[in-house]
Amino acid sequence: MKIAILGAMIEEIEPVLAKIEQLPPHSELDFILEHMDHIQLHTIANNRYFEAKYKGVDVVVAYSKIGKVYAALSASVLIQHFKVDRLLFSGVAGALSEELHIGDLVSATKLCQHDLDITAFGHPPGYVPEGKIYVQTDPALRLLAKEVAKEQGVELKEGIIATGDQFIADPKKKEWIRKTFGADAIEMEGAAVGVVCDAFDVPFFVLRSISDAADMDASFDFDEFLRHSSKRSADFIMAMVDRIIR
Ligand code: ADE
Repeated sequence: MKIAILGAMIEEIEPVLAKIEQLPPHSELDFILEHMDHIQLHTIANNRYFEAKYKGVDVVVAYSKIGKVYAALSASVLIQHFKVDRLLFSGVAGALSEELHIGDLVSATKLCQHDLDITAFGHPPGYVPEGKIYVQTDPALRLLAKEVAKEQGVELKEGIIATGDQFIADPKKKEWIRKTFGADAIEMEGAAVGVVCDAFDVPFFVLRSISDAADMDASFDFDEFLRHSSKRSADFIMAMVDRIIR
């Protein structure tokens, strides 16, 4: 088995790489790069991929850069070049639901692209011909996540995640996305990764820890909580990997 662990930003995958190399949990990428004994670095299509054996299992870790295009590119490379057979996405998201608070963990049941818009031709938001509005995550990985949460005594919520190439920091936009798609959280990569994995029939899972509420304070909160929430998500993903290996 080969497992991909993908994030969008460096901060989202540093805790994963630090854990693989058994470095201090808050190590930054430059420090990790200087101390890489077990991880092999590959550069493909202008992006870095970190390949390693973790507890005897092959893993490939990467950060795609922000946004749907980069995320789709990385997912494609992970599947086509590295031949991963599971993809776990880890990172942060803005809360749309009032039930979600900073630090909370949310696992996507399904994801949509809130900025995909050919409504001028009479199609619903998020839909293009031969596509679908929602892409579903893998039920077995979601179940595994629930078991890990129970084992660890951690609260894991489930919800619909909306993806788009915009950082949402506006109550009106936030409300439109929440209402139109029934979405609970917002980010900029998940659905793109989902569409690629779905097309290649690779089971995938998207976990996000809340960094902000997609409101007027969102950019400030994001900067404040990016590291903390990224680590929460990454720690949970690594607990899932431990459980898959066991
Ligand atoms: N990722 C984290 N917070 C976000 C927000 N408010 N909008 C889009 N992506 C995000």
